[in-house]
Amino acid sequence: MTGGRRRVTLCRMTQTSLTDRTRATAAFLDDVLKGLSRVRKTLPCKYFYDERGSKLFERICELDEYYLTRTELDIMRRYAGDMVARIGAGSTLIEYGCGNGLKTRTLLAELADGAHYVPVDISQEHLHATAAQIVREFPHLRVLPVTADFTRPFAIPAEARQGRRIAYFPGSTIGNFGPQAARRLLRSMRRLVGPSGGLLIGVDLPKSAEVLQAAYDDPVGVTRDFNLNLLARINRELGGSFDLDQFEHRAVFNRRRSRVEMHLVSRSDQTVRIDDEAFSFRRGEMIHTENSYKYTLRDFREIAAGAGFRLEHVWLDPREFFSVQYAVPAADE
Ligand code: AVJ
Repeated sequence: MTGGRRRVTLCRMTQTSLTDRTRATAAFLDDVLKGLSRVRKTLPCKYFYDERGSKLFERICELDEYYLTRTELDIMRRYAGDMVARIGAGSTLIEYGCGNGLKTRTLLAELADGAHYVPVDISQEHLHATAAQIVREFPHLRVLPVTADFTRPFAIPAEARQGRRIAYFPGSTIGNFGPQAARRLLRSMRRLVGPSGGLLIGVDLPKSAEVLQAAYDDPVGVTRDFNLNLLARINRELGGSFDLDQFEHRAVFNRRRSRVEMHLVSRSDQTVRIDDEAFSFRRGEMIHTENSYKYTLRDFREIAAGAGFRLEHVWLDPREFFSVQYAVPAADE
């Protein structure tokens, strides 16, 4: 795996420009005002992950109750060799969002000399720090980070388009997308990997309400802090006036729609100001902050099929809590 050629590529190490940052803040403000103006107030979950939110999420991953990360990592440690045998050791691995990376590392260790790794993330700082670390640890790979919002079309460097392309989407982040949005996202992955590519994806599965409830409403309150941090972030970045003591965290498993919902519930009748706009809340009124869908194997197979993928293999843990699934373009696509 190592030895031989040691070509290391890490390009475009630029700083986030001021205009990028202003644009990002404008988009955040726009989404917040839109979400809070609806009859049923919502805030997009993608804004959880500022610096503090990312740290809180890492702590969530270490909670006993939050089985997802641990279970997926166990599956990867056990089957990464098998997975890479299927995707091909010389493939280009395109990772959608770069997380803490332990799961990814199990795959990177199995890739062949000179294979490309393309992490795609919206946060340039986080992306480049992670990419630099990967370069140090895996000198046999060519690392080509791409700064992009992967829910929109993006391009990867020509160099990375030579080998077989595999979209890697771990962490059950797909659970943040409802069936339609999930299908659209998989369709864009299908386009990016082309007719000879593949998809390797981590998908959390339905299970008892008790287990799910505990995973999203832990006794230590880390998930509560994670949820409330969204309001703190609005205060910090958009000059909002949320009183964090006046909102409480709620997580519920909606069995009919097979999703865990996170909400922030107003503890009183109150008014909150953001950018010259006032939003009133009744006591008990909720802001819906996240959906975490728990797709059955069959649900997911159908979503993938709708996006032009045929499931080829599913790896599970012994309790069947979590799945890592490998799909290839359907023959008639
Ligand atoms: C990162 C989207 C997979 O839905 O389980 C963790 C986010 N929310 N605890 C999930 C999350 C509350 C997480 N994902």
